[in-house]
Amino acid sequence: MASWDPQQYNRFAEERARPFRELVARIPTTGAVAVVDLGCGPGTMTATLAERWPDAAILGIDSSPQMIAAATELQSPQLRFQLGDAGQWRPQRGSVDVIVANASLQWVDDHETLLPAWAAGLDDGGTLAFQVPIASYDPGFGQVAGRPRWAPLLGGALEAIGPRSATPVLEAPEYVRLLGAAGLTVDAWETTYYHVLPGDDPVFEWFKGTGLRPYLDALSPDDAEAFAAEVREELRIRYPREPFGTILPFPRLFVVGHRA
Ligand SMILES: C[S@@+](CC[C@H](N)C(=O)[O-])C[C@H]1O[C@@H](n2cnc3c(N)ncnc32)[C@H](O)[C@@H]1O
Repeated sequence: MASWDPQQYNRFAEERARPFRELVARIPTTGAVAVVDLGCGPGTMTATLAERWPDAAILGIDSSPQMIAAATELQSPQLRFQLGDAGQWRPQRGSVDVIVANASLQWVDDHETLLPAWAAGLDDGGTLAFQVPIASYDPGFGQVAGRPRWAPLLGGALEAIGPRSATPVLEAPEYVRLLGAAGLTVDAWETTYYHVLPGDDPVFEWFKGTGLRPYLDALSPDDAEAFAAEVREELRIRYPREPFGTILPFPRLFVVGHRA
């Protein structure tokens, strides 16, 4: 699979930072000493956790070597970064104060198993907080993928590359039930951001480095180019450029579970 590109990801750093900040702002845990950021990306946002919990050892985990390489350049005695699969990460019982997974769980399968295991890792007073694009969100490339030219190619290929073909993201009430059953008090909400993006084809550029990758990776280079051209066209129609920029509505689900 083509690698994650920290530079491409950071192009819209401010827009991507906001949900992280709004998620972390709702975490009630004070005085944390063990914090984990799963799917930490280039580590920029992980570093902000050190300001919030100055006594904590903060571990960022990401499955992309490029992201971990970028994150490791951030020097701080509080921060440590490690290559790893969030889907395989299991904390010891009661060993963690804060678990954050911002915009990463949509890439990880089987939330029904994973989240109770993470919740069990929380110490008393600890919090598990994550944010994902809502399950039904398709910015447009899902629609293009369903066209007669692409459905036969992408259907099988996407299944073969794994869980991301069908989103693993659940509906909000399912998360509330899941974490409630794990003994957490849950605060969940949805927000649609109306990002105003500058430049040419900014919606295509936004997703090129994230949600579009599994589609492009599943195709031959020639097909990927043709598919990308169709997606670019579809996104231009859905999100027209206006004098002030291009509006990208982005609905996101936030879930914060706290162990009293
Ligand atoms: C959209 S970025 C979010 C980065 C960061 N959390 C932030 O808020 O800026 C998604 C990140 O999830 C990582 N990722 C995807 N699948 C993963 C997995 N199974 N385990 C760990 N990280 C994963 C990607 O490498 C990428 O860095």
